[in-house]
Amino acid sequence: MKTIEDLDVAGKRVFVRADLNVPLDGSTITDDGRIRAVAPTIAKLLERGAKVVVASHLGRPKGEPEAKFSLAPVAVRLGEILGTSVAFAADTVGESAAATVAALADGQVALLENLRFNAGETSKDDAERKAFAQQLAALADAYVGDGFGAVHRKHASVFDLPALLPHAAGDLIATEVGVLKKLTDEVARPYVVVLGGAKVSDKLGVIDNLLKKADRILIGGGMAYTFLAAKGHEVGISLLQADQKDRCLEYLAEAEKRGVEFVLPVDVLVSAEFPDLKGKTPANPDLVASDAIPADKEGLDIGPKTRELYAAKLADAGTVFWNGPMGVFEHPDYANGTKAVAQALLDSPGFTVVGGGDSAAAVRILGFDENAFGHISTGGGASLEYLEGKQLPGLTALEG
Ligand code: 3PG
Ligand code: MG
Repeated sequence: MKTIEDLDVAGKRVFVRADLNVPLDGSTITDDGRIRAVAPTIAKLLERGAKVVVASHLGRPKGEPEAKFSLAPVAVRLGEILGTSVAFAADTVGESAAATVAALADGQVALLENLRFNAGETSKDDAERKAFAQQLAALADAYVGDGFGAVHRKHASVFDLPALLPHAAGDLIATEVGVLKKLTDEVARPYVVVLGGAKVSDKLGVIDNLLKKADRILIGGGMAYTFLAAKGHEVGISLLQADQKDRCLEYLAEAEKRGVEFVLPVDVLVSAEFPDLKGKTPANPDLVASDAIPADKEGLDIGPKTRELYAAKLADAGTVFWNGPMGVFEHPDYANGTKAVAQALLDSPGFTVVGGGDSAAAVRILGFDENAFGHISTGGGASLEYLEGKQLPGLTALEG
């Protein structure tokens, strides 16, 4: 893979595909980690006299503009971080984009509006995607792929555009891939993987592969309830992927066969209601054993015994990969599980990797020092698919 040092950028228009998909509360950015992570690549290109055109998706709009998914607040924050003004184009490939890019002088930067406001970006139809990539290509002379969080997406700006322009990987992608490669090649043991979050089916695939690599797998968050249900326990109204229960049982059996410790919560905090994330009204959850969830309640965080158990399982780790919060950490009554895992990573002597937009944001929102972790990845799905051993379209495109 070429790096940005291999590209001729002085006086050139350089398209930087970033992942600026940050969490927003209205138009307020609640975690700017992804913006900070790509800023050094942009700064380096600006210093070398490039006209930098940054593009990203935000959220999942359906191929047309939607005000709540505008990147406008991100342009402001990017400017603050870079210490320079960032011109913002009100569209992606329209008149505003053309005029904004044409007005750039060497060493100046612009951000285009959300790529996903255009149906061509995410289209499954190759021709439609290529046509959109060609429109994007008209705005630039070179391409830098640095949106690590989106490299698992076969999207126009990620996969098709690099084929149309001289291209290279940005520094963020180079760093991310370097760390993940370490986790697939030479891990210090015990290798402990902690998986949580809500997207159960997204993450089951990775377990298949991790069972061959990890020594211990600890499960929390929304994923846990499908495993508990698979073991025959009542999970009430907890998040459940009933069609995945058989698969969960297969994994449990495989773990046993291979001698991999597969650990599920022993106690959970439950409530009849999902917490109020805006007003943060006290939730007053009940604490129950994980095999005794009442039929009318849902599990929303791991309980204190599980926190202790997981901390003990992490205490001697040589390597830790953590993806996905343990509970609804956005509410203080359900943040303790995620906090306990974050703290256990900090206390562990091993190399610790936090993967995923949500877990990374959780770590920072809960007040942990991000520099104390071995590596905080900007990609959730992307890092999981890398660990699964899948080909990632955005990396394949940069290799050619
Ligand atoms: C993410 O937040 O996981 C990345 O930005 C990718 O977003 P997506 O899952 O909507 O493609
Ligand atoms: Mg995500």
